[in-house]
Amino acid sequence: MGTELPLFPVQASTMAGRVDALYLFLILVSVFFGVLIATLVVSFAIRFRRRSRDERPRPIHGSTALEIAWTLVPLGIVMVVFLWGADLFFAMARVPPASMDIYVVGKRWMWKTQHMTGQREINELHVPLGVPVKLTLTSEDVIHSFFVPAFRMKKDVVPGRYVTTWFQATRTGTYHLFCAEYCGTKHSGMIGTVTVMEPAAFQTWLAGGATGTSLAAAGEKLFQDLACITCHRADSEGRGPRLEGVFGHPVSLASGERVTADEAYIRESIVNPAAKVVAGFQPVMPTYQGLVSEESLMQLVAYIQSLGGPATAGPGAALASPAPAPASPAASRPKGQGR
Ligand code: CUA
Repeated sequence: MGTELPLFPVQASTMAGRVDALYLFLILVSVFFGVLIATLVVSFAIRFRRRSRDERPRPIHGSTALEIAWTLVPLGIVMVVFLWGADLFFAMARVPPASMDIYVVGKRWMWKTQHMTGQREINELHVPLGVPVKLTLTSEDVIHSFFVPAFRMKKDVVPGRYVTTWFQATRTGTYHLFCAEYCGTKHSGMIGTVTVMEPAAFQTWLAGGATGTSLAAAGEKLFQDLACITCHRADSEGRGPRLEGVFGHPVSLASGERVTADEAYIRESIVNPAAKVVAGFQPVMPTYQGLVSEESLMQLVAYIQSLGGPATAGPGAALASPAPAPASPAASRPKGQGR
């Protein structure tokens, strides 16, 4: 369903039409039964009213056919809603494999976004048209919620953990970004914009804001500054596991479990190293809880991701890599980006 509904925000993502279709179906079913029941209540009240003082109605002994009908019809309708909703839920929850990574940190009262190429934005997010974008989100303080009505996308952002979501924009333009979870005095001011650009214009924008330091390179510097490198050595002689080729692969733990080394696992291993100790290693790593900001953690995660893993290939990754120098990056560089 690609039709625009009046009074609705524009549909600017692949999910928007699908969400609206389900929403419209729920509204129509509710209105249909609301009107039907109200009409029956009024008409029965008139038709079966008591006409004289000594009138005795004929007793009713039930109708099996009627009972079955009003059980099965609602069951059928709610099953349609359930299956339709579950299908949509899974489509929204499953991030396409070749997505472009963007990291988001919510903080009272602003949204901070980081691109893999190193561009950072505050209360703004620039994305290319027609490319699936994976957001990895967390919060530095309390629960926020990342809400872009035009994309029909809302994701709670929880401190102490990573949540992921994705979208694929289908029309260029600038759209509202809201915080949709009450987070304190200036919750209502925790707003921003998402700008969808043609892929070529986006490349120009990326190059224009280039800091020369990709997210992974910033992470590599932190990796050295925090002395992670003294234990996580590339030659397998360190006290900690080697991190090359780990990202996206299964890891065997001392507890016997196997987990996938995804963003959330890497983050947990930095702030709470004792939670999931790799098999064959001692729990000697100190915690970095409170010593590294969420943004820095994301840079470290991006660095470890860059050390090898399946998630770095694909058109999204290609788009996120530094583009050839454009003719005049400054001319097409939108205001307010960077830092
Ligand atoms: Cu952040 Cu409301």
